[in-house]
Amino acid sequence: MAVLTENEQKFETLIDGIVNQHYAICDHFISTEFAEALKNQLLTKFVANKFSQASVGQGAAQKQHLEIRSDSILWIENDSLDPLERKYLNFVGEFMQYMNLTCFTGLNDFELHYACYPEGSFYRKHVDSFANDKSRQYSLIVYLNPDWTASDGGQLKLYLDDKTVEISPVSGRAVCFPSHLIPHEVANSNKKRLSLTGWLKK
Ligand code: OGA
Ligand code: MN
Repeated sequence: MAVLTENEQKFETLIDGIVNQHYAICDHFISTEFAEALKNQLLTKFVANKFSQASVGQGAAQKQHLEIRSDSILWIENDSLDPLERKYLNFVGEFMQYMNLTCFTGLNDFELHYACYPEGSFYRKHVDSFANDKSRQYSLIVYLNPDWTASDGGQLKLYLDDKTVEISPVSGRAVCFPSHLIPHEVANSNKKRLSLTGWLKK
């Protein structure tokens, strides 16, 4: 087999996890420097009041439910010209293409948002695909939290058939899973928890 590029090795790590255990973790999916830059950008936009309280559901059924989720989000336009956002959008696009080439996934779109979970916030158990819109195929989350410890909480809990997995939101780490298949939640976060969340779609 041809020698894989650094990015292809990361994509293979994610695909391997999805195929073999229905979820994948890839540490250092983005570099420390890139994660730091994205974190600073997120915080700049957050303090400039660009974020909105996240909602649940879609279309006419879309509604804020603070008892279900208490994070704030900011969508990233797919045609953003911001250099940092462009770099991340291109990276996700490259992953999508690699999935299509190697796994025949037929993905043709993706959507991304910044997320900020203020201290004390959470997202209760849910699945990421909507009742009337099954276009979300894979959820892809990248964390932007240096120095995260277990006592900071905010773990992503994945409810698999035979067990529960808890994942800490440490900087540079990516988690990926099929959007319709894996119920999951974000445990109460004891400090500000930052991430980029996205969905690969078809
Ligand atoms: C979501 C979600 C998980 C996380 O935004 O739908 O489940 O770890 N996020 O941030
Ligand atoms: Mn989710």
